[in-house]
Amino acid sequence: MAKKIVITSGKGGVGKTTVTANLGRALSNLGERVLLLDVDFGLNNLDVVMGLDGNVLYDISDVIEGRCRIKQALVQDGAKRNLFLLSSNNCGINNNISGQNIKLILENLSPNFDYILIDCPAGIDIGFHRAVACADEALVVVTPSLSSIRDADKIITALNSYCLDSVGLIINRVRGDLIMSGDMIKVDDIKKMLNADIRGALPEEDVMFLTFGQSLPKSTDSFKAYKILAENVKNGKNKIFDNTYKYSGFFGSIRRGIKKSV
Ligand SMILES: Nc1ncnc2c1ncn2[C@@H]1O[C@H](COP(=O)(O)OP(=O)(O)OP(=O)(O)O)[C@@H](O)[C@H]1O
Ligand SMILES: [Mg+2]
Repeated sequence: MAKKIVITSGKGGVGKTTVTANLGRALSNLGERVLLLDVDFGLNNLDVVMGLDGNVLYDISDVIEGRCRIKQALVQDGAKRNLFLLSSNNCGINNNISGQNIKLILENLSPNFDYILIDCPAGIDIGFHRAVACADEALVVVTPSLSSIRDADKIITALNSYCLDSVGLIINRVRGDLIMSGDMIKVDDIKKMLNADIRGALPEEDVMFLTFGQSLPKSTDSFKAYKILAENVKNGKNKIFDNTYKYSGFFGSIRRGIKKSV
């Protein structure tokens, strides 16, 4: 049976959809069978981030309202046999869809997958509760800014009432150069402030923008950080990618200077 993990956040735009897509790819690289489910109704874009928007014929509301079978709505990632997407509907926010509707679909699909990653809308309203109600575990995406950390704290409090198997943190858009110069809050300090396990620390990289809709190149720090995140998710570990490795020592300080001047 699949482990169902909701990817959530308090603040919007912190990278939930990006994390869902790339964690899904990284888990599938480890040989896991993965389904990505978009439940950000009306504002869905997981299909676009996956580069699969042209392949979506049916979405989750078509399944719920009986216009197609569940398997007809699954879109296979072109490059990977073990990675699928179940898209959400584009046509406005659909408040008629309940957590129970989604739960039934996931129960049906669960035997065919090892992981189901649920891309949740931001905030704590109906969309959040609908997504979390279906999940076994949660990953809270947070960026190293005080407003995002504060909102993550509220989300973690809300998640506690769901008695999930685990709630982990993903720190996204980490800048190793700014951490070394003391201008960005450290990953460890975020862990202490939110009192939660960190499953991943992902670098801020232009490659996220440049490879939009495609897999990350293997040589990038983002690829390496997502690989570690996927291994943590699979093995229940908390190994953290060191985003500062390029910026320590003599040459590191030169790199910091160059990055600051760009
Ligand atoms: N590590 C990163 N480095 C650089 N850019 C990033 C990174 N993570 C995400 N982004 C960029 O941030 C933007 C927002 O990301 P995304 O859409 O995944 O956020 P979201 O939390 O899903 O937003 P929403 O709350 O609207 O659903 C995108 O343009 C994405 O490419
Ligand atoms: Mg999103």
